[in-house]
Amino acid sequence: MEVRRAAAGDARAIAEVHVRSWKAAFPGLLPQDYLDALQPEDRLPGWQHTLEGAAPWPVVLVGEENGRMVGFVEVAPSGDPDAEERTGEVRTIYLDPAAWGAGCGVALLDAGVSVLADGGFAEAILWVLHSNSRARRFYERQGWWPDGATKEHDWHVFVATDVRYRRQLPGAAVMARDGAGQESEKSQS
Ligand SMILES: CC(C)(COP(=O)(O)OP(=O)(O)OC[C@H]1O[C@@H](n2cnc3c(N)ncnc32)[C@H](O)[C@@H]1OP(=O)(O)O)[C@@H](O)C(=O)NCCC(=O)NCCS
Repeated sequence: MEVRRAAAGDARAIAEVHVRSWKAAFPGLLPQDYLDALQPEDRLPGWQHTLEGAAPWPVVLVGEENGRMVGFVEVAPSGDPDAEERTGEVRTIYLDPAAWGAGCGVALLDAGVSVLADGGFAEAILWVLHSNSRARRFYERQGWWPDGATKEHDWHVFVATDVRYRRQLPGAAVMARDGAGQESEKSQS
């Protein structure tokens, strides 16, 4: 898989992978009628807005095999109210279901983490659906740990509980893991 920065023209392919991944990953976790109705057009304007922006963040990377998009990752400074200045965030990572379990997720996550580390971030967080145990295991295998924070994510048609994961970034001063855990005991509602 080749990884490159996304361009404005990638918005539709990203929206299509995004929706295919949601429909395959979230039955039983999110309302089925919402998943059934979900279309790439629902996500397209958001991705167009993101990719057409001139701001340095977010950065979106796409993974391609034989010219076909298999997944993407989006990274940015953390938007959390309690975030330290040098805390980045993996906002989204989604693979086409056909690419699950083949190493593409690790490659994309590593690429996103490298962009954050190169951007001067010392640590990173991400939010994941509490019930998304497959993704949570994936993050834990990649060195992320739940820092104790949770939040109710309002998707307008449903509310879902998210949990926060955290990790130090390459090159960051090593902080004792216990210290990081204590620091992040503050729980969001
Ligand atoms: C989470 C994700 C990025 C991980 O990437 P990946 O390359 O598939 O990672 P892995 O190869 O480590 O596989 C992750 C898990 O999916 C499982 N898996 C692999 N292929 C699968 C398939 N065809 N169907 C169902 N599960 C599959 C793996 O066995 C593994 O589960 P395990 O932890 O029980 O062993 C990717 O699976 C994905 O896009 N999932 C759906 C979207 C999602 O949940 N994104 C995260 C939102 S916060």
